Amino acid sequence: MNKQTSSWFNVENVPQNYIFPEEDRPGSLPIPVCDAIPVIDLGKSPTEEIMKACREFRLFHVTEHGVPEAVISDTMRVVKDFFELPEDEIAKISSEGGCVYTSSNCFAKDGAHLWRDCLKHPCHPLEQCIPYWPQRPTEYRDALAKYVGEIRKLSLKILELISKGLGLEAGYLGALSEVQILTANNYPACPDPTLTLGLLRHCDPSLITILYQGDIRGLQIVKDGQWIGVEALPNAFVVILGNQLEIISNGKLKSTEHRAVTNPNETRRSIATLINPSPNCIVKPADVLVNDLSPSLYEPTLYKDFVLRSKGFGAFTKSIQSYIKSET
Ligand code: OGA
Ligand code: NI
Repeated sequence: MNKQTSSWFNVENVPQNYIFPEEDRPGSLPIPVCDAIPVIDLGKSPTEEIMKACREFRLFHVTEHGVPEAVISDTMRVVKDFFELPEDEIAKISSEGGCVYTSSNCFAKDGAHLWRDCLKHPCHPLEQCIPYWPQRPTEYRDALAKYVGEIRKLSLKILELISKGLGLEAGYLGALSEVQILTANNYPACPDPTLTLGLLRHCDPSLITILYQGDIRGLQIVKDGQWIGVEALPNAFVVILGNQLEIISNGKLKSTEHRAVTNPNETRRSIATLINPSPNCIVKPADVLVNDLSPSLYEPTLYKDFVLRSKGFGAFTKSIQSYIKSET
């Protein structure tokens, strides 16, 4: 058998310490995917469509996004190769660099572990961040450098459309998007997905998150108090609204509550790129969105303090800290 025989996920039944309390479990699966979630053609400068999707679903798919398919497939391949390295090698690579590897053992809620391991590292500005990245697989840095450069361009395009849609200057949100943190998620096949979770319910601490999830379903969002499934469209990205955008928009847009569920058949991998303000940015509602009729709903907060104060963002906080370290 191959080297993964002894891995934590190679089991016939879900071990007790991966079973979530009833109230956190996903219930019966699979949850059908929601066809109504907009798929937006970015070739058409679709400001109105994006704003409608942001208001109704707090999330949308984008196509015609300009990221070459080869860049995406090379990235997914090196990410797969990374997670298929022996666990001790992954631990060694991560400790040598400045990236944060979280094994399925690291995080637990009420004694239950996530059915996931993940790798996080800062990825913009590139020259500053690349020394912190894994050097194995050998193509990791080259493939990811191309990917995050493309995601940077894509995120600026989307932030420009949202800025315009909110009535802000075109470059308003882009100017605030100084830091990018990449998370590569690995969710192995699970013998009973109804007992486990890949990721607990959360909102991202970003302005927006650009997620690539290949063609394997697993992402769910809350819509009108219900969990709904998000389709996995190959070569399309999912845009998730983060809580910094909620603050800047003075609550006109809300952050997306989401989670990831597992499946019994195959390993799912996703790459979430969180587009964030810089740690020392004071995030507050945009002046033009605050007036007598629409008073400010959020206190100005140093982004660093927001992240440190939030629960459940341990690895994200470490990535931000390694970003701060790389600046000095
Ligand atoms: C995340 C996230 C969802 C997914 O990494 O913050 O929400 O489908 N990922 O992997
Ligand atoms: Ni998320």
